Amino acid sequence: MTDQEVPAGVRLVTPAAGFRPSFLDGAREFAAEGRLESTYCIGLGYSLESLPARFGAFVHDLVSLADASPMRLGRYVDRVLWLVDGDEYVGQTSIRPDLGTQYLLAYGGHIGYSIRPSRRRQGYGTAALALTVAAAAGMGLDRVLVTCDSDNIGSRRIIERNHGQYEGEIPMPPQAFAAEGRPPRQGVTKRRYWIEIAGDPDADWEA
Ligand SMILES: CC(C)(COP(=O)(O)OP(=O)(O)OC[C@H]1O[C@@H](n2cnc3c(N)ncnc32)[C@H](O)[C@@H]1OP(=O)(O)O)[C@@H](O)C(=O)NCCC(=O)NCCS
Repeated sequence: MTDQEVPAGVRLVTPAAGFRPSFLDGAREFAAEGRLESTYCIGLGYSLESLPARFGAFVHDLVSLADASPMRLGRYVDRVLWLVDGDEYVGQTSIRPDLGTQYLLAYGGHIGYSIRPSRRRQGYGTAALALTVAAAAGMGLDRVLVTCDSDNIGSRRIIERNHGQYEGEIPMPPQAFAAEGRPPRQGVTKRRYWIEIAGDPDADWEA
């Protein structure tokens, strides 16, 4: 998919309080499949119960993950963007420009994405990566590492449709699963792809 094929109204935005109703619906969907952390909510100290009352603070904390100030040393810069369709939250992507940990260098890569369960298999994941690559170009990156589990057929398809060049696959040690907050699974490897992008500082990726 190219940017031109991203449907009208589908775009990446900096997390904002205006998407509160659909975000909370989406968070409940992620929680129902045991993936609430896809929203970053748990790691930032929020729960499904506390989110509604503390939504503004959550959005602030989420956006602050992109803060490269010395206060954040020991963590890595993570620019989280929401994929929206019109005024509805559909999912999130993140850009880690510095590959600042051993985990990111080997397994995590520059870009991550997840689509809320009720909106899957409708092309949003493919659009999310296309738009995120454009955003990465706007941040000055000229190629990005994108990875997926060997058994994640949807993600693999998304990367390949976005012109990911397959580099190879590496075993997943227990520490790599732990870094992703999930139990080890036998026989799963991490597939590594590179997407070459032309650095375009004027990339128009956000409304
Ligand atoms: C993986 C994920 C992002 C896919 O999002 P999506 O919006 O369903 O993706 P798309 O609709 O763009 O589908 C892309 C392709 O994958 C296929 N696909 C999607 N999910 C699939 C599945 N579970 N099994 C088989 N094929 C699948 C689609 O049919 C489509 O195929 P096509 O290119 O031939 O048309 C989504 O399932 C998700 O958020 N999963 C949990 C988090 C995750 O795995 N993130 C990726 C980490 S690397």
